[in-house]
Amino acid sequence: MTISDIPAPCATSADATTPDDDALAVLSAEVTAPLVTGGEVGYAALDYAASAPVLRRVWNEVAAYAPLYGSVHRGTGHLSRLSTELFEASRETVASFLHVRPSDQVVFTRSTTDSLNLLASALPAGTRVLVFETEHHAALLPWAHHGHDVTYLDAPASPADAVATAEAALAALPEGPALLCVTGASNVTGELWPVRELTAAAHRHGARVVLDAAQLAPHRAIDVADLDVDWVAFSGHKLYAPFGAGVLAGRGDWLDAATPYLAGGGATRVVSRRPDGGVAVEWNDDEARHEAGSPNVIGAYAIAAACRALTDAGLDTLLDHERRLLGILRTGLAAIPAVRELSLFGPESDRVSVVSFTVAGWDSADLARTLSDRYGIGVRSGLFCAQPLVRALLGSETADACDGPVQAVRASFGAGTPEEHVTRLVAAVRELAGD
Ligand code: ALA
Repeated sequence: MTISDIPAPCATSADATTPDDDALAVLSAEVTAPLVTGGEVGYAALDYAASAPVLRRVWNEVAAYAPLYGSVHRGTGHLSRLSTELFEASRETVASFLHVRPSDQVVFTRSTTDSLNLLASALPAGTRVLVFETEHHAALLPWAHHGHDVTYLDAPASPADAVATAEAALAALPEGPALLCVTGASNVTGELWPVRELTAAAHRHGARVVLDAAQLAPHRAIDVADLDVDWVAFSGHKLYAPFGAGVLAGRGDWLDAATPYLAGGGATRVVSRRPDGGVAVEWNDDEARHEAGSPNVIGAYAIAAACRALTDAGLDTLLDHERRLLGILRTGLAAIPAVRELSLFGPESDRVSVVSFTVAGWDSADLARTLSDRYGIGVRSGLFCAQPLVRALLGSETADACDGPVQAVRASFGAGTPEEHVTRLVAAVRELAGD
């Protein structure tokens, strides 16, 4: 095999799949789940916000590439050169998918969590960080963990309130580098945040912005240059490419000035012994600086394959599909008196296909388990790695003040989700709620 046998990384045709493939079919479509009542049922995967299933096209493209896998940036053999070419082309595919600026870097990481920790490790000394308490732990925690001074902003009641809250906090910052971390879409409520307005506010006050797009990238087109965010982070496993890679993309100046995230091969240009007996290191610039060790080539290639698949199928087409199912789910749940949907910005706010709710009389973990055991439905229960937000939404900010639900159930979906999975969930919740 040669490079001409596998899909060109920047191609936009669906030539890696058989002609009659659904452009966004997922591998889990044929999976069945055992029921405690006996027999089996088609598995309703409704936990995309945790990890989305693999797109069949991504799987096919990875399988076509796998025999050609080789080390990148190291070997001179045919497969090493081929893999290096594909790895760098995957970077370009991601850059186009995100519409980054020409000078931006696209660093391959392990996940959104890894990307945000990398950025936290690269912030200039003295950077003040602003972050809403409503963030996922991956966006809430890295800043203080890496020694930065953090201002935690209270949960806003509306997108406009978010901008006003950020504006006031930004205005109060002292001189010096600052960063505002914002989420694109909540992993709890699915609600969209006013990224453009928050970014404009941050820039007015000289602060930079990182966008946590873990839940946004699978559902909406992202245009980094147009939004004007300074960095964006997302994970492959929520983008139908669960092969252990993620992305941090954006401005290179702070990244190039920072100590490499990991010390090791690949991040170095020259390593030599010093006359005093020590070791002198000249670090690489650009993406290589923060990609020490052998990179996750398959993971990067899979993310690029997912970007191509979503681009070819059209995110707008996917959005239409998700909006229709979201309407069915939310209308169905709203008609069950025992159900309460969690929302920060109110029922009318725009959102991606992520819905968290409680059912009166049910412990959420028991409910999620029962949905699996009796109906073959996979959802998530808990606090969704966003504990301050979920506790605030449940009204259980302090554990001993709580006599209501202490956790919630979350349903989330996307490409490849049939309407039947959503209607089965609504019917099951109605039955279990005794309605
Ligand atoms: N961040 C993932 C979730 O919200 C794991 O489920």
